[in-house]
Amino acid sequence: MPGYAGLVPLEGEPDVRVLGAAGGTMAIPRLGIPETVFADGPAGLRIQPKRKDDPYTYYATAFPVGTALASSWNTELIEEVGKAMGEEVKEYGVDVYLAPALNIHRNPLNGRNFEYYSEDPLVSGEIASAYVRGVQSNGVGTSVKHYAANNQESNRLRLNAHVSERAMRELYLKGFEIAIKDAEPWTIMSAYNKINGVYASANEDLLTTVLRDEWDYKGIVMTDWFGGYPGFESIQDSVSDVVAQIEAGNDLLMPGAEKQKAALVKALKEGKVNEEAINTSLKRILAYIIETPTFKGYKYSNDPDLKANAQVTRSAATEGMVLLKNEDEVLPFTNKSGTIAVFGDTSYSFIAGGTGSGDVNEAYTVSLIDGLTGAGYTIDKDLQTAYVPFVEKMNAKEMKRREENGGLLSDVQRIPEMPLDREMLAEKAKASEVAVITIGRNAGEQHDRKITNDFYLGQDEIKMINSVSDAFHAEGKKVIVILNIGGVIETATWKDKVDAILLAWQVGQEGGNSVADVFSGIKNPSGKLTMTFPVDYHNHPSAENFPGFPAHDPSEVFYKEGIYVGYRYFNTFGIKSSYEFGFGKSYTTFEYSDLKLSESTFEDEIEVSVKVKNTGEVTGKEVVQVYVSAPTNLADKPSEELRAFAKTKALKPGKSEKLKFTLKAKDLASFIDEQSAWITEKGTYTVKIGASSLDIQLTDDFSVAKDITVEKVNNVFDLDAKMETLKN
Ligand code: BGC
Repeated sequence: MPGYAGLVPLEGEPDVRVLGAAGGTMAIPRLGIPETVFADGPAGLRIQPKRKDDPYTYYATAFPVGTALASSWNTELIEEVGKAMGEEVKEYGVDVYLAPALNIHRNPLNGRNFEYYSEDPLVSGEIASAYVRGVQSNGVGTSVKHYAANNQESNRLRLNAHVSERAMRELYLKGFEIAIKDAEPWTIMSAYNKINGVYASANEDLLTTVLRDEWDYKGIVMTDWFGGYPGFESIQDSVSDVVAQIEAGNDLLMPGAEKQKAALVKALKEGKVNEEAINTSLKRILAYIIETPTFKGYKYSNDPDLKANAQVTRSAATEGMVLLKNEDEVLPFTNKSGTIAVFGDTSYSFIAGGTGSGDVNEAYTVSLIDGLTGAGYTIDKDLQTAYVPFVEKMNAKEMKRREENGGLLSDVQRIPEMPLDREMLAEKAKASEVAVITIGRNAGEQHDRKITNDFYLGQDEIKMINSVSDAFHAEGKKVIVILNIGGVIETATWKDKVDAILLAWQVGQEGGNSVADVFSGIKNPSGKLTMTFPVDYHNHPSAENFPGFPAHDPSEVFYKEGIYVGYRYFNTFGIKSSYEFGFGKSYTTFEYSDLKLSESTFEDEIEVSVKVKNTGEVTGKEVVQVYVSAPTNLADKPSEELRAFAKTKALKPGKSEKLKFTLKAKDLASFIDEQSAWITEKGTYTVKIGASSLDIQLTDDFSVAKDITVEKVNNVFDLDAKMETLKN
């Protein structure tokens, strides 16, 4: 990690080839081994855009964040996005892209949820697989991170996560398993946290027994940056347990400190580390190096097709947008004759993506105002004249505060909403066609989000929504809310006050244009939620154990909710949400019919087919979700679990498509603790075809004649403290 101030440069450290890259492997010129370069993602390549004495710029494209991409439920689209990202990786001289990130949304407050995909492991795994395939099709590598159970930022370097083996296998490992088996990522990044008392980077169960022995993974595992140290401050004085890390199967210590190298060499000389483990890691690393563009002598251009990739992000962003509410079909808003009154600081300073290592250095971000103006709408000039300087001043103040408080890793504080005068509002309501309000949120590495004034709206935001809605509704005018957020916020208390809500997410550098495409109806939103929007934060069972204890400085967190995360909890325990998992509206309507199961008794696999017809007036795509309820003789289970999904192609009005899904025994199995096995148990299964996890359109049953042991696995992840987990 060139330039890290606290580190003595490693012997032979090369000059920085790609400025702003997070690190890489060292050159050993004596052996003809070149350095290779790793740089961050996951919302686009993170490198420095400007270099000293160099007039050239090295901007990368800011693509939609993880939640936005996942909400598209479109694996083909994600593969295209991955391809575009990978082109920038390769053309800027990087060998491994430190992405995708697929930790489970255990709790809505995780500061990095925006980088991740879902509360559901199937969605996470399928999206990550597509992403890896796309990036790696360029001949560069990925690093699937953070393996595993890295579901919060508070004290991330030393947090001990207590997790049952069943929750590990069914939720926290499952997405990794899918991505690793389907897409063969070149590298995996082990997480910072401990799992049941053992650092992920020194956890043999995790890195060898499961990853290598059970899943047959052949690539390399690298630590997260300084993984295995209890805190960044400890790096100067101590050294991680390098022997445990290498022997557990963690091949590469990132970014690699002189002290760690010395400790390993000493252990080797004294016979205190298994030499075979070192040789195995070296072989894996060398096997990686010969695959890299650097080793192959690829002449990168430093000139990726940023124009083409801007179009990729503009279009991809629209597919992940979730239309939460659309009373009286106020959207698409096609009337361009009058003016639009645009409220909310964020409308004037759109958020492309989150902060921390996932923050891309893009050349520009299109604001909502610019997007709408570009699409031919007229924006109220008085509001614009008031907002622009206010937002600029507040943002400058906040940036200064952040620079003084840790820079990239500083917490993020939302700037207050500009106060609105009542008379002015009444006047604007008369003069404009419609009101648009943007609510913005940002967060990132090192900090979890807060319950008040973050998950719940701030008083200033509530006041804005109330006063704008009152004024506009008094004139018979509609109010549209755009959510420019990276993670879940509370919606239940205010959603009735407005007419439409478009969850745009943090949509990348073309954000304003992408929103305008949906606002105007050029694009029909087809995203659906990959996580629950609860009525109340405390409805999530993890709320009682997040971010852990002691509360002021948590070092332990107990995953007492077990497998009941997200909709698995809400649906099973009948807890009402504001918007459920899988929910999302469209500008058109769909009809589901012709559900067919290939057989009524399961043998090796079963084929499920269903017809989806566009019954509305505009072209649209529909996300179709296949849930299955399974018998519960051997273990308690969620009332239903997502077992497959697909998105239709763009269906013209009146057109339909038949979708087919194949369910194998493993897709239906649960992890049965007592038997250390994945078992598809005998009994009746109900297939539920859903437009969301609650909006079940069609159902049918099939049976399994006798218990099927799909896979016997090792008994791993023993708890290091007593913990009861939630049962249904
Ligand atoms: C983050 C990783 C990132 C790495 C390198 C760490 O702090 O957790 O996601 O890839 O830094 O920048």
